[in-house]
Amino acid sequence: MASTSPGRFVTFEGGEGAGKSTQIARLAARLEAVGLRVLRTREPGGTEEAEAIRRLLLEGRAERWTPTAELLLVAAARAEHLARVIEPALEAGVWVLCDRYLDSTRVYQGLAGGVGLERVDRLQREVLDFRLPDLTILLDLPVEVGLARRRAAGAGSRFERKGPAFHARVREGFRMLAAAEPERIALVDADRPLEEIEAAILALLRARFGIDA
Ligand code: TYD
Repeated sequence: MASTSPGRFVTFEGGEGAGKSTQIARLAARLEAVGLRVLRTREPGGTEEAEAIRRLLLEGRAERWTPTAELLLVAAARAEHLARVIEPALEAGVWVLCDRYLDSTRVYQGLAGGVGLERVDRLQREVLDFRLPDLTILLDLPVEVGLARRRAAGAGSRFERKGPAFHARVREGFRMLAAAEPERIALVDADRPLEEIEAAILALLRARFGIDA
């Protein structure tokens, strides 16, 4: 049954080890506690088909795909995820919290990968008409801090193997996007205790959406 309150689309972005999944879990619990319906999801992925594309993207050698091929794979996964999961949830009044979305493509493929921001934006916005988030939270922290957290966790995707120069471009890229679209992308300092980051995110949502979480 359709809800009368609109669903909101909130995306989380940042480099490796920024703590997105922890903050998404905490925020989801807060929103649910005030009676909102919440869907947690991630990209690339979020549907069975898109998760299959995710495996192609994250496994193997760092240079397995050209940045243009990566762009098209990520876009294919996003098209599935948007049409089958995100749009129906928003229409039903569900809040969608998504771990990475189109700003990751703008940065990882467009700016750090070398495809170019303009080309990525033309595909994502003009050709595919991908929906923009209502709010994007950028968890920003020094590259070394994020990569060290990842190493400690023993994880290691294909993108983590791309080296420090690539990840420095990722951080700079995200910061540039936030400066260019401050009304949509909010930069949050993620190099501090979890509770402080959580409080900053809640304050942003209260200010933006007038919720009482
Ligand atoms: P993941 O392990 O989920 O990274 P994290 O936990 O840091 O979010 O892997 C997702 C990887 O995919 C991440 O390194 C960034 C990359 N990626 C792109 O290159 N382009 C995209 O459009 C998206 C959504 C992700």
